[in-house]
Amino acid sequence: MGEFSSKVAFITGAAHGQGRATALALAKEGAAIAAFDVAKQIEYPKYEFGTSDELKSLKTEIEAMGGKCEIFAGDVRDDAAVTAAVEGTIKAFGQIDILFNNAGICAYAKVHEMTDDEWNAMIDINLKGPFNVTRRAVPYMMEKKSGVIINNSSVMGLRGGNRLSHYTASKWGLTGLTKAWAIEFAPYNIRVVSIHPTGVNTPMNDGLAAMEGKTPEEIAEASAGNLLPVPWIEPEDTANLVLYLASDKARYATGSQFVLDAGLLSV
Ligand SMILES: NC(=O)c1ccc[n+]([C@@H]2O[C@H](COP(=O)([O-])OP(=O)(O)OC[C@H]3O[C@@H](n4cnc5c(N)ncnc54)[C@H](O)[C@@H]3O)[C@@H](O)[C@H]2O)c1
Repeated sequence: MGEFSSKVAFITGAAHGQGRATALALAKEGAAIAAFDVAKQIEYPKYEFGTSDELKSLKTEIEAMGGKCEIFAGDVRDDAAVTAAVEGTIKAFGQIDILFNNAGICAYAKVHEMTDDEWNAMIDINLKGPFNVTRRAVPYMMEKKSGVIINNSSVMGLRGGNRLSHYTASKWGLTGLTKAWAIEFAPYNIRVVSIHPTGVNTPMNDGLAAMEGKTPEEIAEASAGNLLPVPWIEPEDTANLVLYLASDKARYATGSQFVLDAGLLSV
């Protein structure tokens, strides 16, 4: 019996990176997993998105450890796909206890060179996406009068980022949503928190560096932020924080911002 054995977690952006690591960690502790991912290349940014093979291998891996996993391919911008996945989760597992709003994109652009499409994709995926998913999932939490929503913001949801104005705006927006939803959902015993990682060792990290024509190490050095002597943290570090926040150990944490930055924001 794991710590989350009676729980169901709905995770967006679960095919790889932090979403996958968190799905595996929650499944290891007994949670049933609903794994949602666009699972194909989309138009922007031009780095590697999750694939349908990765989504399928996540299910295989979880089932091999004796766990349960349903997979859903869809874009967080697509209300019909989100609604179908939430309803599919309820049909399979009967409830949603943990929602990890994790799917997101990142790209660099100077604001005077930024196109409408770049701005819109960033805001629609990183900010409207969590709105799309939460409004469909939260009624099931309200019914049970319990639940936890964890929004994956970034250190950029608490500071500015050079050539990242659209990303920074989307992530500050998610910090704001976290606080507003904490107020709205507290009467239903639903907690809402945001997490704020520094750079994480994921395909996003590698993809952003490649788009700049640099190595991930060079990008980490140029952003010169972490106090601890590491260029980035690992997806499993994010997973550990999410597991704590989803657990009863964090039962009175709501509306708060949880920084996982190797010291970056202290400077
Ligand atoms: N990697 C970092 O350095 C870092 C740091 C802080 C915060 N974050 C945030 O953490 C979250 C996860 O990032 P990651 O590093 O694992 O990135 P990643 O690109 O490695 O993985 C993201 C996953 O989300 C999926 N996804 C992207 N757009 C989607 C959409 N429109 N609909 C459904 N799924 C979609 C991708 O297919 C992919 O599987 C993001 O919100 C990101 O902004 C990342």
